[in-house]
Amino acid sequence: MFTAARPTTPQIPTDLFAAIAELKQELNAIVLAHYYQEPDIQDIADYIGDSLGLSRQAAETDAEVIVFAGVHFMAETAKILNPHKLVLLPDLDAGCSLADSCPPTEFAKFKAANPDHIVISYINCTAEIKAMSDIICTSSNAVKIVNQIPADQPIIFAPDKNLGRYVMEQTGRDLLLWEGSCIVHETFSEKRIIELKVENPGSEILAHPECETPVLSHADYIGSTTALLKYSQESDRQTFIVATEPGIIHQMEKDSPDKTFIPAPSTDETCACNECPHMRLNTLEKLYLAMKNKAPEITLPEATSTAALKPIQKMLEMSV
Ligand code: 13P
Ligand code: SF4
Repeated sequence: MFTAARPTTPQIPTDLFAAIAELKQELNAIVLAHYYQEPDIQDIADYIGDSLGLSRQAAETDAEVIVFAGVHFMAETAKILNPHKLVLLPDLDAGCSLADSCPPTEFAKFKAANPDHIVISYINCTAEIKAMSDIICTSSNAVKIVNQIPADQPIIFAPDKNLGRYVMEQTGRDLLLWEGSCIVHETFSEKRIIELKVENPGSEILAHPECETPVLSHADYIGSTTALLKYSQESDRQTFIVATEPGIIHQMEKDSPDKTFIPAPSTDETCACNECPHMRLNTLEKLYLAMKNKAPEITLPEATSTAALKPIQKMLEMSV
């Protein structure tokens, strides 16, 4: 009887760290990882950083293959910066609720209804939204970029309303906000964070600007993941309540082993809602398989990629 040949799956080596190191050499590949990745992935990465740092690395690397351990919009940005390189994402389903909250067709109408505005988009958006933007920003340079725009120039800020509100407060500018948000950063409970602070006298609250205003109002320090990490290294305090995805705590503990880091709790006590379900789709095993199979690969229509490159380059120029 005829039996159809099944595609073979490479065997998973017992020492994934060694196997990935070998594949890096073989492919001339670099592994870029965001701080929200699981600890093992952070430990095998050649570079770990926030969205701005990762974009800079992607723009500067001379590796032939970029393995992006993060979410889709991040790998897509790396591909836009390197249209002729192979960019791999361990799990193509690793999306982003914030990017999903800004559908291109709806955004095109919003933009058309406000033709006198320029568009500054947070990097957490699709390539199509980037292609409709004038400048991209990240959580670490949004304030700096908005401050460089002439005061009489109206601005649409998309897609994160929470980061947008924070930028408005920091710059005194009136931004026209797209009403998007991140499911992870909206989950933190103001009440439970205050309770934790009372239980840990002398502790500091560190928060990402994607958190809602009530949570940010209690923060001792607000910044991108890289900025939060740096602050935790430099602060003379011993205990920190961390209001962002808890993956960052792996680096915080590595850098400051004598300090205590407590993940900020979410409103639902029964779930790990503060973990990004998209980021956590990537695993070390999937990363190994992506390198072994040279797939899944990020691909983009050339016109979208070319149009999206300009506002990314603008961001890199404006944030030196
Ligand atoms: P960073 O700019 O700190 O990398 O933030 C990225 C992100 O997805 C936060 O949710
Ligand atoms: Fe997107 Fe939020 Fe996950 Fe960041 S934490 S990747 S904004 S869903």
